[in-house]
Amino acid sequence: MKLRYFSHSAFQITTHSGKTILIDPFLDENPTSPVKSSDLRPDYIILSHAHGDHLGDAMKIAKKSDPLFICVFELANYLADKGFKTHGMHIGGGYNYDFGRVKFTIAHHGSGAPDGTYCGEAAGILLTLEGKIIYYTGDTGLFYDMKLIGEMNKIDVMLLPIGDNFTMGLTDAVKAVELTNPHMAIPIHYNTFPVIEADPYAFKRRLEEQGRECRVLDFGQEIDL
Ligand code: NI
Ligand code: MN
Repeated sequence: MKLRYFSHSAFQITTHSGKTILIDPFLDENPTSPVKSSDLRPDYIILSHAHGDHLGDAMKIAKKSDPLFICVFELANYLADKGFKTHGMHIGGGYNYDFGRVKFTIAHHGSGAPDGTYCGEAAGILLTLEGKIIYYTGDTGLFYDMKLIGEMNKIDVMLLPIGDNFTMGLTDAVKAVELTNPHMAIPIHYNTFPVIEADPYAFKRRLEEQGRECRVLDFGQEIDL
């Protein structure tokens, strides 16, 4: 599969079979995104929560390409009420889609939509596809159950926020990687706005000092997994 990082928490996975899965597509109002929402035609959109920097342009994109939304039940209902195709799930539950398995994990965060509607719990996303396990923590503070997630799943790639203020900062994110023990960590949710400025290379150095692998992706960069 290919994983393309658009900056902030937005990324896209393209499977060998050609399915496109977009995650938390905050693009048009995102000063660091190299793409616009009009460039994308996903088959699926997975959302971690309803905040504007994650729901982002999802509805605008969905009006063009009619993807299936995969998200927590309350957010799925919010989107279904607006006429979109949805598959509601909830924390602790998994489901097998044609591209692979999605399981929602806990995240300590809120989930109000930009219009003020409360959309249930924020979540992390555990993706199993093409023999790989990707753990995207979503926006969250550090929590000890990351250790359990890592014990029960051999995580290949962990995407986690480092920007502080709304989520884990550097020190907590380093601890999150220690607890989860992925093969590789990728920092996200930083340098989009002044309030979440962080140095991803400082994060990388601190993990490498522990013998851990960390990859800092350029905004727009695509990697093979
Ligand atoms: Ni958020
Ligand atoms: Mn956020």
